[in-house]
Amino acid sequence: MNRAANLLQAEHEIIINAVGLISEAGVFIGKDCSRYEKTVKELIYFYRNYADKYHHYKEEIVLFPEMGKKNELLDNGVIKEMFEHHEDFRNMLSVAEQLLEKSDYEGCGKQLRMYAEAILDHIAVENDELFQMLETVFDNEEINRIYFRFEDIDRDLGVDEKHRMEENINRLILETTSIRQ
Ligand SMILES: [Fe+2]
Ligand SMILES: [Fe+2]
Repeated sequence: MNRAANLLQAEHEIIINAVGLISEAGVFIGKDCSRYEKTVKELIYFYRNYADKYHHYKEEIVLFPEMGKKNELLDNGVIKEMFEHHEDFRNMLSVAEQLLEKSDYEGCGKQLRMYAEAILDHIAVENDELFQMLETVFDNEEINRIYFRFEDIDRDLGVDEKHRMEENINRLILETTSIRQ
């Protein structure tokens, strides 16, 4: 795999790890609902910022348009579908947030589990289909240019903030799973 795909896959790994937290967060319901609210708020923050602002953004601004320019069938097919999924994810997070505000924990949990399932499927399509095509669609130089644009995006948005979010989600996973034990 090339470094452009590696960078996106490394972000996928973090996003997948955080998905486990969605079901774990449920352990607080009925015991410590303020803890549940706090955990879910942090999760939503992570998905809005890490998954959407840093990760989906790279795909939407760089990868998808570049791939689309090379192949119209991809552009009107899987890439269009990937864009639509990102939009669905944003809507699901907004709904989850509204339900949380109304203290509808069951509804919020259900919405987040839907989100989790959808984002895992989405990531599988990107990893197993889309990223596998990169070396067919682009030459090495083009792949490097894409990679540097990814790096520029992280730099513009803030590399420290990106690492802080990764550390924060790992801490939250540890804290939440230790409650269950
Ligand atoms: Fe995506
Ligand atoms: Fe992705």
